[in-house]
Amino acid sequence: MAQLWGGRFTKETDQLVYNFNASITFDQKFYKQDIEGSIAHATMLGKTGIITIEESDKIVNELKSILKEVEDGTLEIGSEYEDIHSFVEATLIDRIGDTGKKLHTGRSRNDQVALDMRLYTRDEIENIKGLLKELLTTLHTLMKENLDTYMPGFTHLQKAQPVTFAHHVGAYMEMFKRDYSRLTDIYNRMNVCPLGAGALAGTTYPLDRELTASLLGFDGPTLNSMDSVSDRDYLIELLSALSTICMHLSRFSEEIIIWNSNEYQFVELDDAYSTGSSIMPQKKNPDIAELVRGKTGRVYGALISLLTTMKGIPLAYNKDMQEDKELTFDAIDTVKGCIALFNGMISTMKLNKDNMKVSAMKGFTNATDAADYLVKNGVAFRDAHGIIGRLVLYAIEQNKAIDELSLEELQSISPVFKEDIYDAISLETCVGKRNTIGAPGAEAMKKVIEINDNYLANL
Ligand code: ARG
Repeated sequence: MAQLWGGRFTKETDQLVYNFNASITFDQKFYKQDIEGSIAHATMLGKTGIITIEESDKIVNELKSILKEVEDGTLEIGSEYEDIHSFVEATLIDRIGDTGKKLHTGRSRNDQVALDMRLYTRDEIENIKGLLKELLTTLHTLMKENLDTYMPGFTHLQKAQPVTFAHHVGAYMEMFKRDYSRLTDIYNRMNVCPLGAGALAGTTYPLDRELTASLLGFDGPTLNSMDSVSDRDYLIELLSALSTICMHLSRFSEEIIIWNSNEYQFVELDDAYSTGSSIMPQKKNPDIAELVRGKTGRVYGALISLLTTMKGIPLAYNKDMQEDKELTFDAIDTVKGCIALFNGMISTMKLNKDNMKVSAMKGFTNATDAADYLVKNGVAFRDAHGIIGRLVLYAIEQNKAIDELSLEELQSISPVFKEDIYDAISLETCVGKRNTIGAPGAEAMKKVIEINDNYLANL
């Protein structure tokens, strides 16, 4: 047992209590941030004269060595320490003696851990944004390449109206753009420095909180010391944003699973992103898409867990808050893995464009356009809707698509139909004439692609 306290205790901590309380197994994940925070704190202690410049330099130099040695593997983080803060401080004292004992002046583990978690999360937000940018770039490429890859658009998972693959992918592009901006918002809101809040009530030392905040790249210090040590809102916001990312990935995965099924065959996943069956030799399963869909539950779980953990905690710091770490670390790692794998999966999958087009032509996806044709030729829309309904019923009986019926057959239902109906309800017209901004027509899509070109260039 290696702990920073013990002076007022007369007995050793029970081993089970020690194990239950310790966090070294998981908080060593932010050793780098812990050391960087300590370097800033020690620098400030020197600059303000709370310790001497020589002492400050000695501490900072040794902390830098400790960081380097942990990074290159020459110094192992021992599991006998209670937490990462104890490990770093004990190692420092071990190496530079009494000077090392001055590092924790005007600081508590409460503001220290609040700082470490914020620094770690801030770095990871940047990493996730990087992965999202890669995904957005893949989606953008797919959009540019598939302006005339026709496919059915669905509502209720029933064929509705024809769209293009570019348009379908464009919907996800918008979702992930929102996800990206949510992360930016969170970053901007959380970028204030809790260091200097002490245990809960600040300190009597003349700490320069502006200095530590700016040394660590924050916009400024937090404004209430009790809130500083007990605020985990930014983690809840992050877990919520990660949950939304997962929800989007999961919806897309679900579609890919459907499209990759034997019945649809719209896409074929690359062998490198598929798995086989131990018994059925013919199988090629979309396990990656299924796992991405499945892991969503785990990330939602982290959000609900932390919300629940936080809901009954009185001000200020309470040990319950230690629970934020494993949940957040797991959610971050899970989401990073999901985005990267999903990106690889969709950038290597093959599109069966013919199957998609044939499917778009079947299922009366041009029925609305047939009704619009009648409207353009003087029929009121509600009447046109009824006429086309009867026409669809007739076509089903004949086992034909609307455009496979002869002009005589069409005219037997409504004399308004003329030869130009075939052009009016062709797939090319149905999609190509839909050119209000946001619609699937190529003209409209090109404008969106141009906007996205710009968006990505400035990301
Ligand atoms: N491991 C603790 C946590 O994650 C560090 C803070 C400890 N503070 C305390 N008062 N026990 O919250």
